[in-house]
Amino acid sequence: MPEETAPTSDSSASSKPHPPLATIATIGRHDGESVTLHGWLYNSRESGKLLFPIFRDGTGLIQGVAHVKSVSPEVFETLKNLTQESSVIVTGKVRADKRAPGGYELDVENVQVVQRVPESDPYPITLKEHGVDFLMEHRHLWVRSPRQSAILRVRAEIMRATAEFFDTNGFIRTDPPILTPAACEGTSTLFPVDYFGDPAFLTQSGQLYAEATALALGKVYSFGPTFRAEKSKTRRHLTEFWMVEPEVAFMDLDGLLELSENCLSHIVQSVLKNRAAELQTIGRDMAKLEPVKAPFPRLRYDEAVKMLNEAHAKGELENPFEYGNDFGSPDETWLSSQFDRPVMVHRYPADVKAFYMEPDPADPRFALCVDVLAPEGYGEVIGGSQRVSSYELLSSRIDQHGLPREAFQWYLDLRRYGSVPHAGFGMGIERVVSWICGLEHVRETIPFARTLTRIYP
Ligand code: 4AD
Ligand code: MG
Repeated sequence: MPEETAPTSDSSASSKPHPPLATIATIGRHDGESVTLHGWLYNSRESGKLLFPIFRDGTGLIQGVAHVKSVSPEVFETLKNLTQESSVIVTGKVRADKRAPGGYELDVENVQVVQRVPESDPYPITLKEHGVDFLMEHRHLWVRSPRQSAILRVRAEIMRATAEFFDTNGFIRTDPPILTPAACEGTSTLFPVDYFGDPAFLTQSGQLYAEATALALGKVYSFGPTFRAEKSKTRRHLTEFWMVEPEVAFMDLDGLLELSENCLSHIVQSVLKNRAAELQTIGRDMAKLEPVKAPFPRLRYDEAVKMLNEAHAKGELENPFEYGNDFGSPDETWLSSQFDRPVMVHRYPADVKAFYMEPDPADPRFALCVDVLAPEGYGEVIGGSQRVSSYELLSSRIDQHGLPREAFQWYLDLRRYGSVPHAGFGMGIERVVSWICGLEHVRETIPFARTLTRIYP
């Protein structure tokens, strides 16, 4: 007997919903047909003998229509008394309607309530305005809102496009450990962990390990959570965030700048192509994202400082910029708003940057490093550099920075055995989501944000 005519087991055949299961996002495929939806009641409106329940199913919203004469009395009563966020299995006929937000409405035929939210304990997030603190306290429910769901969909697309960029450009994903014996990005933001009586830390960056795997595999990237005990309450800082970190053997700073602009262009163009509906739900001005294509402007630190000084003289920046410092948030905000696409600021003074950055041979007071600042005031989304490749220099830097030598022996080995020039960067996913979605704060860019003041829910 041919495979396709062989009956499957009775139980699986009978568990298939009838009419066929559909999702709201792709409901247009069933125009004029009856379908089953698995979802929740988002909101409802009543007008005499007509009910307009709005359902959501995770893929979108659709308005249902039920007339007292078009459904059974039980179905009408059930729908009429249905409470916000009750879970339901609905069947109905799909009807194209130009005025409907998604282009379709559902003429309800039947509804089965899976769990009814009781009136005595209603869904806490109403469709009225709520304060951000209240919403963050109810984040486990807030993620159901159309706007928050849309942000999480854009985040997923950004992560997908990021992995796609590296996977299709010859990079091998090699994820580093999360529990580490030493600091990578300064000792002031380490989260300590008691590792069976020995001190250990949650990783601040997978970079040092990516350097090891780059010398094994050539082009690698890591993609995972990283941790910083940031005491700052800014709109850009989380204590737990996701970073993608490519690292390439034999790459110099110029190669790294090209990699950065190509990676960001691919991500932005993918989101525009695949998540335009979500950007619209969020209210993002997409025209601001369209110019984000390589090449990006490049600025030396010195040129950026000159621009900041001029801006201060013109009264566009409140505080004067002190040469030699790293840029503060207002400086980055001003600089990045001067361009229609990210700007790559390179060659910062070595003294304000990390111990592992290669000095510029043309002038060793500067580091071969780059910060990529996103436009519209979003600021740093990528930080990267060429790495110190000399054993002697790296060894003295470790001492100068007061880092524990024993914990860095393995890292020094990379300069003992076949050291090569190499470079890499770290891109914070939440910063990129915040910019692409045009959000005010990174707390909405991750399902459950961890900040200085929040670890619940
Ligand atoms: O500039 P950072 O500190 O660089 C590094 O960690 C390097 N080891 C990366 C590398 O070269 N492999 O961090 C890189 C990026 C920043 O540009 C920013 O996007 C993000 O990580 N980031 C944060 N995002 C959210 N909250 C924080 N507290 C962040 N700190 C850094
Ligand atoms: Mg940085």
